[in-house]
Amino acid sequence: MDTTVYRPLDPGSRPGPQSGTTTTAAVRARSLSKRYGTGDAEVRALDAVDVDFAAGELTAIMGPSGSGKSTLMHLLAGLDTATSGRAYLGETEVTALGDKQLTHLRRERVGFVFQSFNLLPMFTAEANIVLPVEIAGATLDRAWFDTLVQTLGLGRRLDHRPSELSGGQQQRVAIARALITKPDVVFADEPTGNLDSRSGAEVLGFLRRSVRELGRTIVMVTHDPTAAAYADRVVLLADGRIAGEISDPTPESVLAGLDALRTLDDAPGAEVRA
Ligand SMILES: Nc1ncnc2c1ncn2[C@@H]1O[C@H](COP(=O)(O)OP(=O)(O)OP(=O)(O)O)[C@@H](O)[C@H]1O
Ligand SMILES: [Mg+2]
Repeated sequence: MDTTVYRPLDPGSRPGPQSGTTTTAAVRARSLSKRYGTGDAEVRALDAVDVDFAAGELTAIMGPSGSGKSTLMHLLAGLDTATSGRAYLGETEVTALGDKQLTHLRRERVGFVFQSFNLLPMFTAEANIVLPVEIAGATLDRAWFDTLVQTLGLGRRLDHRPSELSGGQQQRVAIARALITKPDVVFADEPTGNLDSRSGAEVLGFLRRSVRELGRTIVMVTHDPTAAAYADRVVLLADGRIAGEISDPTPESVLAGLDALRTLDDAPGAEVRA
């Protein structure tokens, strides 16, 4: 499935967790809820979710449209406020932070690939990618920038503005921007949703290698069973609740899990385990 040629990543960076060490949670949600509106108009976008995302793993979140996937990632990344419950990034309780601390957390510790990209329209692709480094007042790691640009196939598009880029190219710029500061955790909301299968495979292969070789933690939303099979684990969401999980997913086991999810409507409280 992984059609990319294997190239080691940025050997100067810190290595991933050694095998044999216990995996610790990089990200945790505890009874995390988000409600919109009140009374009859109330929407429970997220309903008392408990979930852990292990450090040094690539986790995929799957579930029907409207099941709360983006909401969960926004709350975990400190981009939106919870109605109740707690979210942790490592030992930091994200849900207890004030505005200043949240800004710092988003700047220093989290990378986010938005479902809608959120690129700055007046900036070139290159300026968009390096912006987080400049905002943090850090020094750009040119070799890492080159690795990202090369792997994501953006070399000939660096001087273009977002309006001059295809959807898939904008998506790849957004991925480079999320990774440029080498954050502890990257949240990616459908990072391959606009890519053809070959570019998608390259991006996914790259994300998986940044987890394996550089010890990054990545949580990504996807609707694609083939994409989910790149993950170490799949977490299933339905109606704002955790509806199951799949370990060491394959496209087949993910499809079976999604099928099982559809039939769960008849069995409240049941969960998919595979
Ligand atoms: N600002 C808002 N006001 C009211 N309801 C909202 C708001 N944002 C999201 N919702 C609702 O919360 C629920 C969860 O939305 P969310 O965007 O997390 O879903 P999703 O799983 O990411 O879906 P998709 O796969 O379509 O991206 C949906 O029912 C949505 O309509
Ligand atoms: Mg979404």
